[in-house]
Amino acid sequence: MIAKTDFKRPRDAMDGATFEELTAFLAQRAAVAPVAPKPEVPALAAQRLMVARGLDIVPASWPGIMAAMKTDTMPMRKGWILYGPTGTGKTVRARLAGEFAGVEVVTARHLFDELITLPFYQASRIGSLTISSRMKGSDLIIDDLGTEPQTATIYGNVRNPMAELLEERYEVWPHIRTYMTTNLTSQEIEERYGERVVSRLSEMCGTMLLYGADRRKN
Ligand SMILES: Nc1ncnc2c1ncn2[C@@H]1O[C@H](COP(=O)(O)OP(=O)(O)O)[C@@H](O)[C@H]1O
Ligand SMILES: [Mg+2]
Repeated sequence: MIAKTDFKRPRDAMDGATFEELTAFLAQRAAVAPVAPKPEVPALAAQRLMVARGLDIVPASWPGIMAAMKTDTMPMRKGWILYGPTGTGKTVRARLAGEFAGVEVVTARHLFDELITLPFYQASRIGSLTISSRMKGSDLIIDDLGTEPQTATIYGNVRNPMAELLEERYEVWPHIRTYMTTNLTSQEIEERYGERVVSRLSEMCGTMLLYGADRRKN
């Protein structure tokens, strides 16, 4: 039979110590093994940023998505396409994600203008294209895909610069990732950029619908 006394706490060195001795002992132990502050979970940090900016957390997965851009936890290093009607908060989320993860945000219109004035771009065709590192050297968030002109006539050739850029970025994926917001449906993306681009986009990006009323009207 096990005696009850067998479970008694063994006496340790500090039993019977004075308050001062105990305080000194604890201070010494803390100095030897300081408790490291736990790093904040990135998704929680992202969520705190959303709240700090006065945004509600819709969709609930958005802080996790922002965190994945920074911590590289997204399977297959996918980017995202955030789509949905106007005023649902796509741009706000994209900018916040860019700020949080250190990824540049550029509007599709601006990117288009930059692209067509690049000497490299003007001189070459898709396939032998050397787009500047600004265009395909790093992760990029393209806001409002589909609001840029569809075609540009360069030296008499009608071209679809954004489609070409997306194809080029696919060539460097998953080394770099592309994120975008758009009002276009997948059907409209296909009409605009063609089947090749849609198939590449579906490989390099996950899609997320942001629905709801136009928040600007409230
Ligand atoms: N989660 C949110 N909480 C509060 N206001 C929001 C939220 N998301 C967007 N808004 C507001 O709604 C308006 C439209 O957002 P925006 O990102 O421009 O929409 P979209 O790009 O989808 O057209 C902006 O004034 C923005 O501040
Ligand atoms: Mg927008």
